[in-house]
Amino acid sequence: MEQSPFTQAVLRWFAVYGRELPWRGIGDPYGIWVSEVILQQTRIDQGSDYWLRFMERFPTVEALAAASEDEVLRMWQGLGYYSRARNMHAAARQIVEQGGFPQTIEGLRALKGVGDYIAAAVGSMAFGLPAAAVDGNFYRVLARHFGIDVPINTTRGKHTFEALARELLPADQPSAFNQAMMDFGATWCTPRSPRCIDCPVAETCEALRTGRVSQLPVKEKKLKVRERRLSYIYIRHEGMTALRRRPAGDIWQGLWEPLLIENAPLPDLGRPLTLLAKDVKHVLTHRILLADFYLAEPTVRPALPSEYIWIKEREIGEYALPRLVEKLMDLLATG
Ligand code: ADE
Repeated sequence: MEQSPFTQAVLRWFAVYGRELPWRGIGDPYGIWVSEVILQQTRIDQGSDYWLRFMERFPTVEALAAASEDEVLRMWQGLGYYSRARNMHAAARQIVEQGGFPQTIEGLRALKGVGDYIAAAVGSMAFGLPAAAVDGNFYRVLARHFGIDVPINTTRGKHTFEALARELLPADQPSAFNQAMMDFGATWCTPRSPRCIDCPVAETCEALRTGRVSQLPVKEKKLKVRERRLSYIYIRHEGMTALRRRPAGDIWQGLWEPLLIENAPLPDLGRPLTLLAKDVKHVLTHRILLADFYLAEPTVRPALPSEYIWIKEREIGEYALPRLVEKLMDLLATG
């Protein structure tokens, strides 16, 4: 099949400037999949550290499937988006039950938590399947180079960019092309300071020709995300503290937290609470959380709702905590 001049130029660029990443060239679908799930939400340098640790602890899909959810969440701690870790754990069990990794896009797509992007990324990089893995970098490069102003976060945009990506994808090198587009977007055609001066496709770049590099890609404004207010009370009584596991159907399912008060007055625990921090802001995908942190040091152990358990304070490291609660722990540690 004939390669477009754009595709040829990007592949030539990749051969020289492609990044060395620990999961590149391993060919192992499991390791590639883990890297893609981590990189959905994390910068590449931090993501690489997590990937190395995760792969050391769970080197195979069988090892991940055999682990407890708690342990998986603990290895994930700090990355956020814990439902991704839970989905990955469930998908590992699906894969083991099926007797191995699915080797088609549809098969990959049927795994829990795997969408079009990850199916194409794993399919192309592990099995050479001709699927374009269109991520944010990919969108930006195409929007600029071809001067497309359809908003990237709309259904029409998704269809437009995916159709173009399919046209440009070389059927014999889908893995190199996908990774070339990711790297090119991440290191050359960057959001704020693209290197147009030494860009290998500058001559045919529509955005550069028409002075619209900084205006593309276009994103449609979404409704403002709502705020949610929380108060956390860390109780300290004779070296013990109280935690509960977050219930299903809400953020942070399965993680642990101290006494949470939401939409209710603060309880009377016998002695005044110490305010540690007010209006700590924590941004999630669909919510902005504003949290107040308190320390309570009651003279008698208070009665709490039955889902709370008492643990030794020094054993709190064994419980997977949301990032927001870690902020509270940092405040306690620093006084
Ligand atoms: N971002 C997400 N996946 C990536 C990959 N395989 N290479 C480079 N950047 C990425």
